Order: sequence, then structure tokens, then C-alpha cells
Amino acid sequence: MHKLSAALIALLFFISCGTKKEEQKDLAQSEEKWWKEAIIYQIYPRSFKDSDGDGIGDLKGIIQELDYIKDLGVTAVWLNPIYSSPNDDNGYDVSDYRNIMSDFGTMEDFDRLMKGMHERGIKLIMDVVVNHSSDEHEWFQQSRSSRDNPYRDYYHWWPAEKGKPNYRYSLFDEKGDAWKYDSITDAYYLHYFSQKQPDLNWENPKVRQEVYDIMTFWAEKGVDGFRLDAFQFAAKDTTFPAFPDDLQTNFIQYYAMQGNLHEYLKEMHEQVFSKYDVMSVAEGAGRNFEDAHNLVDADRNELNMAYAFEGVDIAKREGYSLTHFKEVFSRWDKEFAEKGWLSIYLANHDQARMVSRFGNDSPAFRRPSAKMLNTFILSMRGTPYCYFGDELGMTNSNFETIEEYQDIAAINGYKKVVNEGGDIMEYMQNLKFGSRDYGRTPMQWDNSTNANFATGTPWLPVNENYKTINVESEKKDPNSVLNHFRRMVELRKNNPVLVYGAYTLLQPEHQEIYAYTRSWKGEKMLVVLNFSEKNSSITLKEAKSIKEEVINNLQSPDIKNGTIHLLPYQAVIFSIQ
Ligand code: GLC
Repeated sequence: MHKLSAALIALLFFISCGTKKEEQKDLAQSEEKWWKEAIIYQIYPRSFKDSDGDGIGDLKGIIQELDYIKDLGVTAVWLNPIYSSPNDDNGYDVSDYRNIMSDFGTMEDFDRLMKGMHERGIKLIMDVVVNHSSDEHEWFQQSRSSRDNPYRDYYHWWPAEKGKPNYRYSLFDEKGDAWKYDSITDAYYLHYFSQKQPDLNWENPKVRQEVYDIMTFWAEKGVDGFRLDAFQFAAKDTTFPAFPDDLQTNFIQYYAMQGNLHEYLKEMHEQVFSKYDVMSVAEGAGRNFEDAHNLVDADRNELNMAYAFEGVDIAKREGYSLTHFKEVFSRWDKEFAEKGWLSIYLANHDQARMVSRFGNDSPAFRRPSAKMLNTFILSMRGTPYCYFGDELGMTNSNFETIEEYQDIAAINGYKKVVNEGGDIMEYMQNLKFGSRDYGRTPMQWDNSTNANFATGTPWLPVNENYKTINVESEKKDPNSVLNHFRRMVELRKNNPVLVYGAYTLLQPEHQEIYAYTRSWKGEKMLVVLNFSEKNSSITLKEAKSIKEEVINNLQSPDIKNGTIHLLPYQAVIFSIQ
């Protein structure tokens, strides 16, 4: 008897500790913030809507479609760069940070756009591209003009009389060489991206102050957040030591998170983020979890969140394994379950289309798989980033020759393979699967000429499938990818459990179905997603405590004796006891 009660007490104690632990976990992520609850819609302005017939999307075009954006239910928009730019890399080469690119409109248009968004309860996140500027920026023009120009130290220069500097890899250079010789001052300058994107010298306090002033300018205007482009590469060891031969091109491990990067972010926080109610997100989450935490943990006073590349990098030409996919997303979730915050995304302007990479863009499965992927993004913990067109299930185009591509990464990558005598067929096959251009084809509004994106010739051809995949036809169809997206957005907005709730992966080894629960403050949801083109089933104890089905991309599934039977690419969320 005595023994029994001791065991009982131990058991009760164990249970109560467990519950406490669960509650504590809940508590850790319950600090409510608008940017945790945000549903971010990313617009690539060049490709969204053209209002003046030049074939290039613009700000007035976005203004025309503000009600469409509002009806999606999303709560924030991230705009890719809209600043003045010679467009070597479509706006990621800024020549004036306080002005609007002439292709996109004027500052007046910008003001109207922001006002229109705010009137509709939509926040605006701006892209800040300050690892580098354009070589046409006034700072660089000055900097390159003479060795003693006051702007000289705004960039990284290496005098030629010291010989060629140690090798640095460039992502967009046709020779892969980040040092470009400039005869005006007989020196090399550094460019991790294209030759027209010289890296700014973050070790120079004047450069940092310029950037904080620029960010303040936009914060004062009323923008609601900043996405820091390529920022993990901003700090550098300006002695430029030699890297080991085998690591010279290991971009993340060797080029990211160097030197005083965290000090600069703290300074940025103090000067900008702490003064405004703005969110901040970094492109890239560093080399490892420690870096990622150091970027985003609240007590660090640096950023709110980062987006990691590991998830989007899973999809390869030869496909990917669902168990790997689950492992990656679960590992990241676990790491940030109690501290820090994540972003969730499967596509952006640097990726080909989500449904073509992670789903199945064949006519039979495009719709269910696009809905399934949107269900995934919008039911995970972390702030979801939804890329324009993915709410319709837009797919990759089919370019045949290199001339059809517009992206500097594709074009210079091609030249590099040619220069090095590499396998050009292989390169073209890879582009066909993963080219950034495929994520940039214009928005498909209706089935009229050019999908009603532009009256003039679009800067990048509209995908041929626009006659069937477009906003107008999807609006009318209650079962469209678009209407499912809207329902999913509503579901997330009405159920904080989907934002803050603890995530538990079920049956990690299941090859076809991704199942997990989310739980928070007594609410619990079960998400089951069939990532395969086959019927599949999963037996779960949670299936016995289903209260109701809250969303489904196909008909209601058969559930018998705890086994849920799913159709190909079926995605269902249940509320459970
Ligand atoms: C980031 C952007 C990408 C751009 C690059 C250089 O990776 O997302 O589009 O080409 O930085 O700015």
C-alpha cells in the first residue's frame, strides 16, 4: 500500500512536471507580437502589375490591386527593392536609397501605396540592400574617382601595387572572382555579387551611419519593417586573409557572420529598430543554430527573425525525400521552440515556383499539391512568407535557350560554365528546374492578352498556362487554389494555436504523409498532409480524438479505427481534444 501510494505520488509528480513544462513552453512563445502573427505576402514589383504599358510592373499597378491583396487576408506586404537602380540585378543594385526607381514610379506613388495599404490594415516591409550598392551610386562614383576621395573607404579597395588580393568568390561573376580591377585608381574593388554591386565597407562608421539614416528616413515615412538583404555577409576582415583552398567558395561557412556583424546589428537596433514599431528579418540565418539564435533571440537586441535556407534548399532536380523535409523543418522548429522566432517559406524571388519544386505541377496534381503546400506554410510555427502567385498555384515556365533568361545569376552562371569548359547541358537542365526567372514571370490576372499583367510586351514572358491559371477564373471557382489560400489565411488568423502553438511531429518515418499537431492554451490541431501522388494512410492515436475537420483541400477523408485515408496531395486540418 505504502509502496503503491509512493509510486502514485511519483507518477502524479511526473505528470504535473510534464504539464508544467508544456505550459512553460507555451508561455515562452506566448509573448504576442504583431510580426509573429503576421502573414506576409511578398510582391516582386517588376512582375505584379503594370499600369503604364511599358511591360514592367510598377507601384501604381500595385495600388490598383490593393483590394485583391486585402481580400487575400494577408496582413503585411514585403516589397522587393523599389529604389533607383540601373537594374543589373533587378533593383538589388541601388543607386539612390531615398528615391523610387523610375520604372516603378515616383515617391508620390509610394506614399499613396503605403497609405492605401495602411487604410486596409496591411503593413509594409521594405527590402534594405546594404551589403552592397550599385556602382552607379554617388558614393561609389566618388569612391572610385581618386584614392584620397572622402568616399574612398565606403567600399573595399586593394591597391594594385600590393599585388592581387587573396581570392574571394563572387556569386554572380562570370569568372567567380569577387575582385574587379579598376584602372582609374589602379586598384581592385570587392563585389560578392555582380561587378555592378560593389560591397560597402561596414567597418567604416560613416557607412553605417548613412545606412541608419536611410532606414530612419523610411521608418519616419511610416514603413513597418525591414528585410535585410544578404546582410550576413556585410562585415569583413579587411586584411582579406587567404582562405583554405577547399573552402574558398564555401560561401556561407566562410563568408557569413564575420567580424563585428553582431555589433553592427546592435547598433542598428539602437539607432533604428528600438525607436519604431518596425519588424526586422534577415536573409539567411548564419552558419549554424548558434548564429541564428544570436541574430534573433529577443535579449540580443538585434533582429526579430531570420529566414534560413536549409528548407528551400531541400528540393533538387532529382526530387527530395519527405522524411528529409520533415527532419529539417522539425529540427528548426525544435531549436526555436522556446527562444527566438522563425520564418516559414517555400519560395521567393530567388527560387523557382514552389509547386514545381515541392509539389507536382502536372495537370492532375497541381491544384491539390499547391493547396497542400499553402496549408503547410500557413499551419507551421513561425511567420509565414507567401510569394505572389503561389496563392494561385503558378508554375515554372519552360525556357529553352539561355537567351530567354533575364536573370544575371543565370546569364553569368552560363558564361562561367562556358569559360570553365563545364557541362552546359547539365547547367541548362538545372536552370529549367531552379531558375530565379521562373519565380519572376508576371502575375496571371486573367485570360486576356499577357494575362492582363501589361498592355505592352512584358519584360519576362507570361507563363503560357495563364489562360487557365489566373486570378479571375480562380476567384469564381470555390475550389480553386486561391479560395483555399484565403480560407487557410482566415483559419490562421482566427486560431492563435497555429501561430504560437507547440509543434509535435508524428511518425517522422512515414514516407508519404507529414503529420503534426499544434497545441496552445488547451487548443489542439492535427495537420495531415499527403506529399505523394498516391493514396496513403496513417494510423494515429490523435485520430481518435478528432472534434472536427477545420479545412480540407479535397473531399472529407475516410477515418476508420484511428486510420486516416488520404487522397494524393490531400491536406486536412482537424481540431482535436
Ligand atoms: C539577395 C537577394 C537576391 C539578390 C542578392 C544580391 O540574395 O535576395 O535577389 O540577387 O541578394 O543583392
